[in-house]
Amino acid sequence: MAIVYLNGKFLPIEQASVSVMDRGFIFGDGVYEVIPVYGGRLFRLEQHLERLARSLAEIRLANPLPAEQWRRCLQELVAQNGGGDQSVYVQITRGAAPRDHAFPKDVQPTVYAASSPLKPLPADLAEQGVAAITVEDIRWQRCDIKAITLLANILLRQRAIDQGAAEAILVRDGAVNEGAASNLFIVKGGVLVTPPKGPYLLPGITRDLILELAAAHGIAHREAAISLADLNAAEEVWLTSSTREILPVTRLDQRAVGNGRPGPVWRRMMSLYQEYKQGVRERGETPAA
Ligand code: PDD
Repeated sequence: MAIVYLNGKFLPIEQASVSVMDRGFIFGDGVYEVIPVYGGRLFRLEQHLERLARSLAEIRLANPLPAEQWRRCLQELVAQNGGGDQSVYVQITRGAAPRDHAFPKDVQPTVYAASSPLKPLPADLAEQGVAAITVEDIRWQRCDIKAITLLANILLRQRAIDQGAAEAILVRDGAVNEGAASNLFIVKGGVLVTPPKGPYLLPGITRDLILELAAAHGIAHREAAISLADLNAAEEVWLTSSTREILPVTRLDQRAVGNGRPGPVWRRMMSLYQEYKQGVRERGETPAA
């Protein structure tokens, strides 16, 4: 039975409950993280905790635990769920209070963490790549905050699923920023390009690691705006996230990307990424460079 952490206690998921007055339930007033675990080790934990602290600060919610306590809490959660490969979900909401848009006074936040088995991606998915569609980005102007309020992302992802695609790539004012639940990379003229951080995309932990690996291994790369025209002319298109790693997009809006097969830069990066992961399994986290 899965063990979860809720407000200071570890307990079986069936026994975990929160108030219907919780502002996460009523307003989506909270933030979250998704952290992969390989061989019992939390992957890029420091970076995830830093991003969590930033999201909390941006929504003006005090961080309920100091970093050291987060580390201990999440390591304990992983151990209680049997180690191995997992996907840890962390959520903090502004707590339970009578419904009122204004911040409640003297309310304890709700702190929740759970873990589920990390499903390995089907091998053919990486070999064949996935389909993606482009859609207008209908989200708000603070996509850099990892907010639990994901209705727009859900509707956009579902549009992709309904058309037989794996992801929706989001277009805002002619620029492509990221996917509904992933960051975006293209290869253009042999150079790996990803949009710079800003309000219209989540600063992905996988994205940062890919840039570190590119720098450490001499792969030409650049952070620069990507137009819809750039995307359509790209030699390679990738989508990155903690749960799906680096997915090559081989069909975009019903057309083939490049020759319709995952490209050589993806192959190189995927092998560096798997090597890095293996290092974490064996030795724990070390710098990519
Ligand atoms: N989502 N952009 C968005 C909008 C995302 O939701 C995610 C991840 C990413 C990639 O970030 P990272 O590399 O740190 O996982 C980019 C998670 C996995 C989710 O919502 O389940």
